[in-house]
Amino acid sequence: MQNLSRRRVLTIGAALGLVGVADPSKAWAWSSSGSIAATDTVTDPWGVWDDATDPLLADLLENGRIPGVNTAFEKWVRNGDALPSGIPAALTTWLQGHNRLPSWADQTKLDRAAQFNKRMSMYLFLLYGLGSGIMSTVIPREARNVYWSEGGAVMKSRAAKTFTYGYDLSAVDAFKPTGHFVVTSNKTRLTHAAVRHLLPQSSHWRAVTDDQDFIPISNGDILITFHSLGTFVHGKLKSWGIRMSAAEEEAFLHMWQVALHLLGVRDDFIPATWAAARAQSQYALTPLLAPTPEGIDLADILLGLTSQVDLGVTKGFQREFARYLLGDQVGNWLRLPRDYASRAIIEVGWPAYVAFREGTSGIIPTTYSLFDQFIRGVAMLFLNNGTSATYTPITIPTGNRAG
Ligand code: HEM
Repeated sequence: MQNLSRRRVLTIGAALGLVGVADPSKAWAWSSSGSIAATDTVTDPWGVWDDATDPLLADLLENGRIPGVNTAFEKWVRNGDALPSGIPAALTTWLQGHNRLPSWADQTKLDRAAQFNKRMSMYLFLLYGLGSGIMSTVIPREARNVYWSEGGAVMKSRAAKTFTYGYDLSAVDAFKPTGHFVVTSNKTRLTHAAVRHLLPQSSHWRAVTDDQDFIPISNGDILITFHSLGTFVHGKLKSWGIRMSAAEEEAFLHMWQVALHLLGVRDDFIPATWAAARAQSQYALTPLLAPTPEGIDLADILLGLTSQVDLGVTKGFQREFARYLLGDQVGNWLRLPRDYASRAIIEVGWPAYVAFREGTSGIIPTTYSLFDQFIRGVAMLFLNNGTSATYTPITIPTGNRAG
């Protein structure tokens, strides 16, 4: 872990809505008593990968079986679909063991989460898209992994694939037979296992990766990404004063707990409560945030993609909104240009917009339509990727980025 000063960690944490005391100089000490397994052990998740899956993908890649698997996966999309035919027997056996919800999944909570996602959809597009998406570029390992993997060279389709995951997770029937999320998660888990075999073969990646990241995408790395998604979004919704019942908050966490399980994260690492999630995030995500050349490039590409559509605001406004969500430290790392006039409008106008939308203020702010057009524009941008003919299926990579 990088040796960041406590003060700096607190400043970044506060900006992200992930306030608390973190001590980045300590080794992993998050007790699994706060996990859904509730066992009081301390295992370093950065030393845990996916033993049930990684050897299988290494074998399929080495034997040239992945292109055929990707073809067979094209029509395998819904949770209730029969398993695809024409794939290697070992993969069929793996799917038989993994293509289902964990025994502890609670359908009532998942249904509640689905309704919550629907009600929150406008905020979620904005927070996942402009918040979590850009935050991923200041998570050094993730930025380097994404940049040097095959998809790093074609960020538009990669972003669209990532959106597929978020869209499938947030759909009303996500976890039901008609939904897609269990299948999408399995494709993602297999993709991650392929990356663990492929990236260590990339001389570019090996030249930039940190010493401990000799095999990418450990359980610890996945937990960090979860905090940049679920924990960050939950924290922002709370800090904006969005109405959420305790049952909704619990359901939203439960949805993410199931999602983490489906990605191969062990139950003794999955936080049982939002308090435990926040503690883990302050400890594991916040101190690790840092700029990298790869991340700066990726952020520029991602923000450029969102600027291609008319959000009803200037490019400067959009960059300032990312700064507003992630804090100026992150904005400075990513060299996001300043637009102080837009920032002044955002600082005053966004809380007023949220208060009016949530019914806590009866006064329509003068900038209401500006923010309304912006938030709808961001939603449409993602929806067009997710539901039109450009819907991009997740495919398992067979190589790395060339250079
Ligand atoms: C691929 C989601 C964690 C690195 C993917 C894909 C999805 C996804 C949907 C398939 C789409 C695509 O190819 O882009 C997630 C989620 C995570 C997570 C939901 C955690 C909650 C991570 C972490 C890393 C990582 C921690 C690295 C440190 C990658 C890479 C690819 C990938 C390199 C392959 C891109 C390619 O095809 O070249 N992930 N991921 N992911 N993910 Fe993740």
